[in-house]
Amino acid sequence: MAFEAVLLRRSSGATALEVPVGLKEYRADGGYEGLEKALSVGPEEVIEEVKASGLRGRGGAGFPAAVKWSFIPKSDNKPKYLVCNADESEPGTFKDRLLIETDPHQLIEGCAICCYAVGAHTCYIYIRGEYVRQAEILETAIRQAYDAGVLGDSVLKSGFKLDMRVHRGAGAYICGEETGMLESLEGRRGQPRVKPPFPAIVGAFGAPTVINNVETLCNVPHIMTRGADWFSEIGTDERNTGPKLYCISGHVERPGVYEFPIGVTLNGLLEAAGGVLGGRPLKAFIPGGASAPILSAEQSHVPMDFDSLAKAGSMLGSAAVVVMDDTTCLVRAVYRLAKFFAHESCGQCTPCREGTNWSQMVLGRIESGNGRPEDPELLLRMTGNMSGTALCALSDACVGPVRSLVQNFRPEIEEHITSGRCPLPYRSVFGKTAGTGH
Ligand SMILES: Cc1cc2nc3c(=O)[nH]c(=O)nc-3n(C[C@H](O)[C@H](O)[C@H](O)COP(=O)(O)O)c2cc1C
Ligand code: SF4
Repeated sequence: MAFEAVLLRRSSGATALEVPVGLKEYRADGGYEGLEKALSVGPEEVIEEVKASGLRGRGGAGFPAAVKWSFIPKSDNKPKYLVCNADESEPGTFKDRLLIETDPHQLIEGCAICCYAVGAHTCYIYIRGEYVRQAEILETAIRQAYDAGVLGDSVLKSGFKLDMRVHRGAGAYICGEETGMLESLEGRRGQPRVKPPFPAIVGAFGAPTVINNVETLCNVPHIMTRGADWFSEIGTDERNTGPKLYCISGHVERPGVYEFPIGVTLNGLLEAAGGVLGGRPLKAFIPGGASAPILSAEQSHVPMDFDSLAKAGSMLGSAAVVVMDDTTCLVRAVYRLAKFFAHESCGQCTPCREGTNWSQMVLGRIESGNGRPEDPELLLRMTGNMSGTALCALSDACVGPVRSLVQNFRPEIEEHITSGRCPLPYRSVFGKTAGTGH
């Protein structure tokens, strides 16, 4: 049986997406019934329902959402906050943008339910600076929600007070990391904090704070209206549940955002997206954004869920699937990724600051035909020093693709080194035609 979209159901058929779903339309379609239900059952039951659904964070790490909510102290006199992470800067990821553009009230409702569950009276939606139109759409929807009494002094006449604000970032990938985001929200440079303490204890403005991704929160209204059992029956198994948005890009006929039960394989996703561009053979793919180790074509049958991908040596991450056909130079591809990480490193930690730069330099010399026989081992040694030794996961994010290149595609690196050039028939990133020497 075909899977019926849940998160994207209101956006199906929209092409130009000129008009996001407004409050009236949203309510007519059952919108805010999840919030009504939450307000009627009480905060603890909401957390229990979300826990029973098995919902895991869609922002990258896959941490169980309700477990995170339950870390917020109940007896603390400090204010509590929800910060919704709409920074979406992982290369290849564009699902949160679609959710905001098409159905902003779905997100507002998810945020409101989470705030009610943890006792937060203020919610910030921290949105990537480049998402100007999306920030405006959200602001309009928030205004509509205030006017209709969905937000404000008494949410749906319940007596629960909730304020919501959009906070725009300024275009730094590191501000998607939760504590970098908190620093930025508080008006400082977006440099990640030392953890512990974790944001659930010391978060925004020193107070307990939940941080969840846009897609994570968009799932919550549906769990409230349809129930935890409905949610947990979707997906691969009890640890990998619910609908999931996959962003597919690269060498694919119809790039875009596709909704599937979590655990669709690359083959299944490619079928929906029209196959590899021009019908060429698949060479490799990234299943979960720039930070995810690269898998080979032989792994296209692996269910793309948290645990199956981890077992296969990669990760679901932000579910940004990048398809690479047989014309792709993987050294060049990973060089570009390392360059991105080197550019975005905030520079606080030596292994990250130096390691991302060295990764870029070593891969760059291999791609330009100046690689040394010891370079593959050098890359492995360097990434060994970068892993688990820094303040945040950006350092490890660079390790993922670099190490997988050496481990899974070593012959391609060696061919670059022994032939003194990029063997692929395309222009090198260094401006010289590959194949003509250095
Ligand atoms: C460098 C870096 C960038 C990140 N960028 C994002 C992002 O753009 N959006 C996001 O939701 N999470 C991002 N994360 C993950 C967040 O730190 C955090 O785990 C997530 O927002 C938690 O939400 P979830 O539990 O709902 O997944 C990033 C992490 C790192 C290390
Ligand atoms: S790991 Fe990198 S990005 Fe993260 S805090 Fe350290 S230097 Fe900054």
